[in-house]
Amino acid sequence: AHQWRGVVREYADRLPVDESTRIITLGEGGTPLVHAPALSELVGGEVWLKVEGMNPTGSFKDRGMTMAITAAVRDGAKAVVCASTGNTSASAAAYATQAGLTCAVLVPAGKIAMGKLSQAVAHGAEIIQIDGNFDGCLDVARKLAENYPVFLVNSVNPSRIEGQKTGAFEVVDYLGDAPDYHLLPVGNAGNITAYWKGYQEYAQSWTNPHTEQELEPMATQTPIMWGFQAAGAAPIVAGHPITEPDTVATAIRIGNPASWEQAEAARDTSGGVIEPVTDEEILHAHRWLSAKEGVFVEPASASGVAGLIKKHAAGEVPEGKQFVITVTGHGLKDPDWAINNPEIASEGDSSAEAAAVTKVDQDVET
Ligand code: F0G
Repeated sequence: AHQWRGVVREYADRLPVDESTRIITLGEGGTPLVHAPALSELVGGEVWLKVEGMNPTGSFKDRGMTMAITAAVRDGAKAVVCASTGNTSASAAAYATQAGLTCAVLVPAGKIAMGKLSQAVAHGAEIIQIDGNFDGCLDVARKLAENYPVFLVNSVNPSRIEGQKTGAFEVVDYLGDAPDYHLLPVGNAGNITAYWKGYQEYAQSWTNPHTEQELEPMATQTPIMWGFQAAGAAPIVAGHPITEPDTVATAIRIGNPASWEQAEAARDTSGGVIEPVTDEEILHAHRWLSAKEGVFVEPASASGVAGLIKKHAAGEVPEGKQFVITVTGHGLKDPDWAINNPEIASEGDSSAEAAAVTKVDQDVET
């Protein structure tokens, strides 16, 4: 029987690998593109969710990490390092483990979800908590990689972008062409950079610079890219770095994205936008996904959906179009928000948690 072989093997002809490459993989990618009936009805179009929580460590980071750790091994690295709001560290720790590499992760103290921290601990990473935010962690990680023999696996490493561009390939392979619009959260801006690169490469004849193999176009169009930042952490929207970014969506609590210019290029070349969504809008979209589409994500992952709902309310979503929204990470990464979501609390006079506990008490009595 055939099973999905991970993004590097599935898309080897479009990545910097050849037959001699030792590939480090946990079988990432091949994630479901799920039709979203309630969102489709709302906007009068066809809305699909690329459910990246279905990756081995529960986020889209695995697509980039298989390629980055494969590159680290090829370069003879013994140790890797990254800065992270949580998901990159979880992914780096897992892939480094398979490769037999030491992994150090720098995370903002107290601002990373417990599920993600648990993963880094479980995989034996060296965890360095830093007072400050992601941007400070990335500065330290970059300096470590400059001054010590450690390999940086943040998305400033081109291998990460190469791996992550496969998300766009999968969308086109499934739909038969690129959608009219692609929506996604923007934090450090690696993913919008990667999707745009993938869509562009698929829409033209393209020569793999590593193997010099020539490849035919797979799509007739590229989508309009709509990126969304949390309003309290929206440097690209503001046009300047934010020194104290803040949002409930800790994954995208970033004030100075590394791929800033590439994100602007994706926005401008595609004729798209990068706009803010408030925490309230993010949590509303999080609730919408759980309650109406059956898809459980972490708060940051709902930003693209929040953006679609917001732009629809503003009359800015044309009817009859095809939309793909990347929902970036699994709800189990940061499950508190399901119970503490203000919308659930306001549905009754007690919180959902209290309601669930009451139910258990009754069951015990009978
Ligand atoms: N969604 C989730 C769940 C994320 O973890 C991230 C980034 C993003 C969206 C934004 O993607 O940075 O490519 O624009 N998380 C990084 C991390 C920063 O360290 O895990 P981006």
